[in-house]
Amino acid sequence: MLPSSLKELPVQRVERTPTSFWHTADMQQLSGRVGVVTGAASGIGLGIAHAFANAGMSVVVSDVDEARLARAVEALGPDRAMGVVCDVADSDAVEALADQAQERFGAIDVVCNNAGIIRGGTVWELPLSDWDAVLRVNLMGVLHGVRTFVRRMLAAGTEGYVVNVASMAAVVPVAGIGPYNVAKHGVLALSDTLAMELRAASAPIGVTLVMPGRVPSRLGRPIESPDEPERTALDPDELDSDAVGEMVVDAVLHDRPYLFTHPERIAEVQRRFARITEQRSEPGF
Ligand SMILES: NC(=O)c1ccc[n+]([C@@H]2O[C@H](COP(=O)([O-])OP(=O)(O)OC[C@H]3O[C@@H](n4cnc5c(N)ncnc54)[C@H](O)[C@@H]3O)[C@@H](O)[C@H]2O)c1
Repeated sequence: MLPSSLKELPVQRVERTPTSFWHTADMQQLSGRVGVVTGAASGIGLGIAHAFANAGMSVVVSDVDEARLARAVEALGPDRAMGVVCDVADSDAVEALADQAQERFGAIDVVCNNAGIIRGGTVWELPLSDWDAVLRVNLMGVLHGVRTFVRRMLAAGTEGYVVNVASMAAVVPVAGIGPYNVAKHGVLALSDTLAMELRAASAPIGVTLVMPGRVPSRLGRPIESPDEPERTALDPDELDSDAVGEMVVDAVLHDRPYLFTHPERIAEVQRRFARITEQRSEPGF
């Protein structure tokens, strides 16, 4: 959680230098910068918002969950945080989010496309409406954030940063959550393509793809459900959302293209890609 003194810290402005000579993302200093986080009322997004604020940033937190969003702004401190209700599946709403963020804080330096949902069922049984819902939020929602904010960063001509939150499901699919796997694989492809195109354009905008393992959160619970995740007694394979937030800050500062929050699971990724390159199946897969 935020140290209570953070709310009293003055919001500082960072000196931005519009230039066409940058060749790499340069986010060596986050203090004084402005970040936007989608799906920030809960879980990983909230952890990232806290970490951004701890790093001295102003934060625009957005979500469809109005009540939890208001609580997040209160915890972060209304002088350095602003809440905007925004459905990332709606491209116009994401443009309106960017307008409001810029109106309040000026240029946006970091965008974190984090909002996500999950639906369970086999590929053939899950209703198309569930496929549509997951792809609209988890894939199109990320695309909307990328298009809206990258265009504005390029127009501003200053350095910027994109953080896309995918999942281990971006590289190791899990049976029973088809649309989630498909969307997260899509976010991996989108992030790699974006990074290649930004580099080709010599744009000073970095990209990090975050692939979390298990993190206690409200994923899969309806907004109306009062349950909050159990954060005190973590299973051995679970990581707290605030720890994920700190990892994201570190990844931005070091311009890391990929972040595995659970590096012990990288062997699963290697096995999956070995199976593909060796063109073979595996028992239980
Ligand atoms: N928790 C995990 O174990 C885990 C693991 C891997 C990846 N992830 C990913 O992390 C991200 C955050 O999920 P979380 O686990 O913190 O879950 P969470 O449910 O606690 O947080 C997700 C937030 O997104 C919001 N949201 C849902 N639909 C939205 C929409 N259309 N527009 C804007 N906001 C919307 C929700 O209201 C919620 O506040 C997701 O992309 C998820 O796929 C989570």
